[in-house]
Amino acid sequence: MHHPDLCIAGAGIIGLSLALELHHRGYRVTVFDQGDPLAESSSAAAGMLAAYDPDNPSQLLPLATLSLSLYPNYLDRIHSLSGIRVPFQTHTTLQSVPTRTAATSSELTAKDLSHLFPALVPRKHRFILLDEHSLDPRQLASALLAAIHATTIDLQPHTPILSTRPVGNAVEITTPIGTMQTAQFVNCAGAWAAASSHQPGIPVTPKKGQMFSVVLPPSLPMHFVVRTPDIYVVPRTTGPSAGRAIVGATVEDIGFDKIVHPSDIDHLRSLAITLLPILASTQQLEAWCGLRPATADGLPILGTLPGRPNHFIATGHYRNGILLAPATAKVMAQLILGETSATELTSFSPNRFLSELPSP
Ligand code: GLY
Repeated sequence: MHHPDLCIAGAGIIGLSLALELHHRGYRVTVFDQGDPLAESSSAAAGMLAAYDPDNPSQLLPLATLSLSLYPNYLDRIHSLSGIRVPFQTHTTLQSVPTRTAATSSELTAKDLSHLFPALVPRKHRFILLDEHSLDPRQLASALLAAIHATTIDLQPHTPILSTRPVGNAVEITTPIGTMQTAQFVNCAGAWAAASSHQPGIPVTPKKGQMFSVVLPPSLPMHFVVRTPDIYVVPRTTGPSAGRAIVGATVEDIGFDKIVHPSDIDHLRSLAITLLPILASTQQLEAWCGLRPATADGLPILGTLPGRPNHFIATGHYRNGILLAPATAKVMAQLILGETSATELTSFSPNRFLSELPSP
């Protein structure tokens, strides 16, 4: 086996985006995944680039806006490697305003709303319009994987990392296919960052999200996302899923359970119908779920692992992995290369949870 400059655990959108960034900067990169690439939360996501969702922790904003600014180049790089252009599906979000917020001039009046979107029944919600894009994470996954295959990045699916340990100035990695050395290692294993046997003690837990898709009726041309704290409806406007909408999502703290329950989907559906009664007559296509990597403060964990030389971590992206992938790739590459980070990372430091990792 060759000796890469960097090994990554986890071929989700975070791990593969980082692999692409470091490959671009001349690194030899190997990525291991216990299953298929991009098969978990990266392709379960709805795809909203929701940097300005009022439910986000405020400390996330600088990283989120950095990521938005990087998105066009990120998609261009994927396009130039893969030949696949991933389009934005929507450019606007109708966002409910938290009830604690005082009325502002940007708030839409009932008249504005009925003019903009007659199908919407706002009920107790007040709304604003956000300049926010969404994309189809399944399209992004296909393009990103094709981009990775067009490079010399060594992708090893179905190969869990069993252990890692610092050896001199390097890291020794053990997988079922053997032991190898790498200069540096990054744990990008998402909700599995702590579950994999190589790094117990990482404070990340899975938060299950169930969701479903519907065929939108021709009488409901929908070109923007509708989002409240309880429900979102995300239309696909172009590509193979045009004319559908994604409705989500539950937020559940029940471990690695990935069972989709029809009763939970029915509940989501009834919440969506209270906002958009016309959805009562839509045909349901698919229902699925994903496991978001969650931390206690809702912020990602980005940095070096205390007590483990040459070990880095990038996980805990919770509901914003698709949004935060380009910025995470950029700042982690900068950390790994010893450069100044494009944004302050103190709020995301592993040290806020960990003084030292327990021994594996
Ligand atoms: N990003 C959408 C969700 O977490 O449900």
